[in-house]
Amino acid sequence: MPTDRRIDKLIHLLVKHATVVVPGPKIATEIGVTRFKVFKWIESLRQLGVEIRGVPAVGYQLVTIPDILAPSLVRAELGDCPIGRNVVHFFRTDSTNAEALKLAADSVEHGTVVLAEEQTAGRGRLGRVWFSEKFSGIYASVILRPPLAPAAAPVLTLMAGLAAKKAVSSVTGLAVDIRWPNDLLVNGKKVCGILTEMSAEVDRLHAVVLGIGINVNHSLMPAALENIATSLRMEAHRGISRIHVLVALLRELDRHYQLLLKNGNAAITQRWEAASSFAHGKRIRVLAGGPEAMATTMGVDPSGALKVQYDDGRQESLVAGEVVELK
Ligand code: BTN
Repeated sequence: MPTDRRIDKLIHLLVKHATVVVPGPKIATEIGVTRFKVFKWIESLRQLGVEIRGVPAVGYQLVTIPDILAPSLVRAELGDCPIGRNVVHFFRTDSTNAEALKLAADSVEHGTVVLAEEQTAGRGRLGRVWFSEKFSGIYASVILRPPLAPAAAPVLTLMAGLAAKKAVSSVTGLAVDIRWPNDLLVNGKKVCGILTEMSAEVDRLHAVVLGIGINVNHSLMPAALENIATSLRMEAHRGISRIHVLVALLRELDRHYQLLLKNGNAAITQRWEAASSFAHGKRIRVLAGGPEAMATTMGVDPSGALKVQYDDGRQESLVAGEVVELK
């Protein structure tokens, strides 16, 4: 179940008045529930790790501002950005992409963002699972309704990677690389992955869901991932505000989406080439269904495919699969 809008209001009220004790009756009236319900919800928030001080017979005060991606807090930071005007929040769900695809089928508006504090079955590319530790990462699915044909999907995917790179590097100051198609790497390890899913007819996209997972405040990665994945906190050696990264991401997504609609694919593919060390002359292993092969990259074509030259001289444009840098 999505988070009750009134719990969102409760969080917003406490954050807005963080320096004072907010009277229980005032909270109850403002959010439209009983004082007992307020008490119950405060208890639930405490169990989720939000530190709230209770002053008997007076009210409640936040001890620390929580880094919760509550819709009202996101909206307050985001201003009038169309992507994120409608935010659907879950404390826990299986996958924000699964939720977003359901909402997209129910004709929810362009720019709707589905967020979760935790995913129990986060989906990765190529049938993998996305590790989605509670409150540590950003698990976001953005629903777009582009006036474009299904062939535009790969460029939308590159666009998402580009926007995520700009957002992460501007908030953290870290040097971020993009591995085709859209993994973000810091010091050679993955910090962000993007899974694009869509519903479409032959010649028209109904909706594209950009599912974006960013490892933000994980203090360590599971043993199976520690050689290939990291978090922004582990690389920057300080905690990073998830809400700042998320807001920057949604703004950058909107900016790049407008660029794509106005100036066409090349506006994205050229910027992607400038932003990724994988675009030209990178020695890679190609894993694309068939046997693995060694190749060198030769740029991205206007459709978003990665052009490669195999070591046996053959050339190909990759539209799916993944690549690994040869060291
Ligand atoms: C990858 O394998 O690199 C893609 C990972 C995508 C993970 C994100 S987290 C938010 C959204 N919901 C999902 O179930 N998956 C994507």
